[in-house]
Amino acid sequence: MSPSLVLRRLMQLLPPLLLISALPTALPAATCNPDDKRALLQLKKALGDPHTLVTWTADTDCCTQWFAMDCDPNNGRITSLHIYESDAAGSLSSSIGDLPYLDTLTFRMSPNLTGPLPPELSKLAKLQTLWMDWNSLTGPVPAFLGRMTRLSYINISFNKLSGFIPPSLGQLPQLMALYLDDNRLKGTIPASLGRLRRPTGIYIGLSHNHLTGPVPPSFKNLNIIRIDLSRNQISGDPSVLFKTGDRSAMSLSIDLSRNQLEFDLSKANFSSNLWRLDLSHNRVYGNIPAPLAAIEDLESLNLSYNWLCGEIPQGGVFNQISKLELLHNKCLCGQPLPPCK
Ligand SMILES: *[C@@H]1O[C@H](CO)[C@@H](O)[C@H](O)[C@H]1NC(C)=O
Ligand SMILES: *[C@@H]1O[C@H](CO)[C@@H](O)[C@H](O)[C@H]1NC(C)=O
Ligand SMILES: *[C@@H]1O[C@H](CO)[C@@H](O)[C@H](O)[C@H]1NC(C)=O
Ligand SMILES: *[C@@H]1O[C@H](CO)[C@@H](O)[C@H](O)[C@H]1NC(C)=O
Repeated sequence: MSPSLVLRRLMQLLPPLLLISALPTALPAATCNPDDKRALLQLKKALGDPHTLVTWTADTDCCTQWFAMDCDPNNGRITSLHIYESDAAGSLSSSIGDLPYLDTLTFRMSPNLTGPLPPELSKLAKLQTLWMDWNSLTGPVPAFLGRMTRLSYINISFNKLSGFIPPSLGQLPQLMALYLDDNRLKGTIPASLGRLRRPTGIYIGLSHNHLTGPVPPSFKNLNIIRIDLSRNQISGDPSVLFKTGDRSAMSLSIDLSRNQLEFDLSKANFSSNLWRLDLSHNRVYGNIPAPLAAIEDLESLNLSYNWLCGEIPQGGVFNQISKLELLHNKCLCGQPLPPCK
């Protein structure tokens, strides 16, 4: 038999998919790895076969024909998922852990994505970005995230996560952004987060939860660019945060509004990189310190609804401050409020 006749016989006998894998020379450069494809199809099924993933079918090539993902053209492995505003209904299946080359998992704004982050997620050793805000995830912020050492960006804001913030997150050597805003988290802010060492600066968002206790003193070592702890029940003296910007070339933005902070503002020291500071709706007392007027970068300052007293400094940020940022204190006086007696 001639070789071409053998081939034709084979083609009659074998199902088309098997034939493709038997003849690798006939393949285009990027053909989806079958293990990755299987994992994604399982994921799709557990999400109720959503319309947004309609291109994910068994008989098409996931590297070239599927939406919402990227594939490495050299080896056909899935490197990122980008699912937005999906009608997915269900939870992430354990097969998410069977995508060993995944570095970016974006699954956002899908209100019927429920359930916990599965333990198998911890198998994704290359994962750098976990961006899953505006879903309906429940369960804890898993402690295993602290063992996924490549993670640099975590955003699981606007979900229904409960329980404590795992101290293990402080071990992540690359972590640059941690956003857990608007969940149902309780307990104290782990002191271990003060060990985060990303030299280019750290973004922390824990607003709109049920966090209690103080800002850990260890936070004085952080290189913070932006921190939002607003709308919790945080107590004590957070002024270690006000100096953190000194380590950075970036502007420092701090929102501590609507907490139960109680400290003497006149004793605090401030970084010259301070750009925005919101302390409204707390129990801050003492005078407004004059050095705040000397910080050139300071653009926005909100001190309303506190227990402050005494004369408002003049110059700098106070040239443009409005009454709204000073009202409802104990006995503040001077521009833009009525003069001191
Ligand atoms: C989520 O589920 C509800 C109830 O089944 C449904 O009405 C709604 O359209 C779903 N949302 C999306 C974005 O699919
Ligand atoms: C993280 O998620 C929140 C909520 O959607 C969003 O406001 C914020 O911009 C996100 N952060 C970044 C850096 O993308
Ligand atoms: C502010 O700086 C002064 C002088 O360096 C220091 O004595 C004081 O303890 C600092 N205050 C706070 C609250 O860190
Ligand atoms: C300062 O806080 C008050 C009270 O919450 C609010 O009305 C005002 O808009 C805030 N100002 C700025 C600039 O955020």
